[in-house]
Amino acid sequence: MTPIPPPPALEIRGLRVTLPGTARPVLDGVDLRVAAGETVALVGESGSGKSLTSRSALHLLPPGAEVEGAVRVSGEDVLTLDADRLRALRTGTVSMVFQDPRAALNPLRRIGDFLVESVTLTGAMTKEAAAARAVELLEAVGLDASALRRYPGQVSGGMLQRVMIAAALMGDPALVLADEPTTALDVTTQAEVIALLAELRARFGTGLLFVTHDLDLAAAISDRVYVMYAGRIAESGPADELFARPRHPYTAALLASTPRLEAPRGRLDAIEGQPPDLRQELKGCAFAARCHLATGLCDQQAPDPRPAPGRADHRAACHHSARLVPLEGSPADA
Ligand SMILES: Nc1ncnc2c1ncn2[C@@H]1O[C@H](COP(=O)(O)OP(=O)(O)OP(=O)(O)O)[C@@H](O)[C@H]1O
Ligand SMILES: [Mg+2]
Repeated sequence: MTPIPPPPALEIRGLRVTLPGTARPVLDGVDLRVAAGETVALVGESGSGKSLTSRSALHLLPPGAEVEGAVRVSGEDVLTLDADRLRALRTGTVSMVFQDPRAALNPLRRIGDFLVESVTLTGAMTKEAAAARAVELLEAVGLDASALRRYPGQVSGGMLQRVMIAAALMGDPALVLADEPTTALDVTTQAEVIALLAELRARFGTGLLFVTHDLDLAAAISDRVYVMYAGRIAESGPADELFARPRHPYTAALLASTPRLEAPRGRLDAIEGQPPDLRQELKGCAFAARCHLATGLCDQQAPDPRPAPGRADHRAACHHSARLVPLEGSPADA
């Protein structure tokens, strides 16, 4: 008998979120999946809805938000959980690595107390078990047990982000959400932290949703990538395939505007024009106004995501994918 595969760490279906005072949904029909143990990158310009999408896994949406669709974590429907189950979800099944670890830590508490309390306050673990796990995880992130006695102010930013990664793994989560976890760090430390996340993901079998502006980073770390534009998924697919043969003009433009050889890394704001404002209704494709392939159809009708020929796992929401010319020297070929 073939074993039943575990449910996806995260499955978002048709997520539509509308905030008060806006003319259109801020997330508009988002579909996204992170398989158990998979690393998925979510990329897109500032304001495209990456953080909201990621936070939906914890049902952490702004007050007054109207929500439609489904969000399941390890098969459990997050949007309908009662308060107790939601607390269990937020302190166990799903954890977050924040952008700025210093802001997330109490400077007056020792690192060890922080790690232990993250799982004992909820009764998820005994103090002894938590203390043992904290030592194991600190070693896994390349720190030794002496860090337990230190205060956040006594360690570097890079070390602190390692502590946060250890903290995120304390409750043995099915899903880790990492929202721009390295932007506050220098480039070398960034690379170390990323390598660490990838290694731990493999070792602990955790699904990882990695939010980033950085295409090179997304290519380096993830199994699959979702490209978001104005609250919609523009394109999704296996990282190597998507970067080598983008099927959406937005992805292609991002890649074309990414400097190849050395720093500075690719910037997502290098495409002319601005994404549409939330006060603006959208009838057609959200990218039409900035797109060199756009036709009258694009202004009239929002494209549904459709698979690339022969590639069911590579999808783009574009009426004109077939007219895209393959990029030369894309990162996957380099
Ligand atoms: N609490 C909130 N109240 C009102 N609007 C919000 C709130 N949170 C987010 N938004 C709006 O929703 C949109 C998407 O925000 P989100 O934070 O998900 O973007 P993002 O892709 O993570 O951007 P960035 O790369 O800058 O972090 C933005 O237009 C933002 O202004
Ligand atoms: Mg964000």
